Amino acid sequence: MKTLKHLLDRNVTWAESIKRNDPEFFIRLSKQQAPEYLWIGCSDSRVSANQIINLQPGEVFVHRNIANVVVHTDLNCLSVIQFAVEILNVSHIIVCGHYGCGGIKAALEDREYGLIDNWLRHVKDVMRFNISEFQGLSHDEQLKLLCELNVKEQVRNIDNTTIVKNARKQGRELYVHGWIYSIEHGILKDLDRE
Ligand code: CO
Repeated sequence: MKTLKHLLDRNVTWAESIKRNDPEFFIRLSKQQAPEYLWIGCSDSRVSANQIINLQPGEVFVHRNIANVVVHTDLNCLSVIQFAVEILNVSHIIVCGHYGCGGIKAALEDREYGLIDNWLRHVKDVMRFNISEFQGLSHDEQLKLLCELNVKEQVRNIDNTTIVKNARKQGRELYVHGWIYSIEHGILKDLDRE
């Protein structure tokens, strides 16, 4: 099938079901977006931001990449953060990782997948920074630990961006949260509140 008609059909069904409950929904949404949250998550197809936190279109601004990494020189991610903080005025940035992440697993096992190996270098660095914590753990425990440590590292990276630092200097209340999602249970955990 060249045209993906089945997806376009699903879109019409979805839009109609929303309009049945709230006829003005899309008209209202088209006038402005005012999300309260920026979500930075993994590209994994099972970890879709709006569905996991049960929010409607318009309620969360989203950036996703493999292994939810925030790199100091990544203009794409930094532009998303800047727009969210300075233009949309979000007060909460959520970094959401997930257990069993393929990107984290590839970094842990040092397997070769091509170009992506360079991106995952950042996750390997997270392991190197914390190498003593990995000693004596099973492979599954190491994977779980690296998924969590990676989220915490990205929270730190966001705190250290000029965007967040400047916003805080100006007295803005801006919170950065580190969460992790269990695909097996469908449940999020706040890593700041362990
Ligand atoms: Co992942």
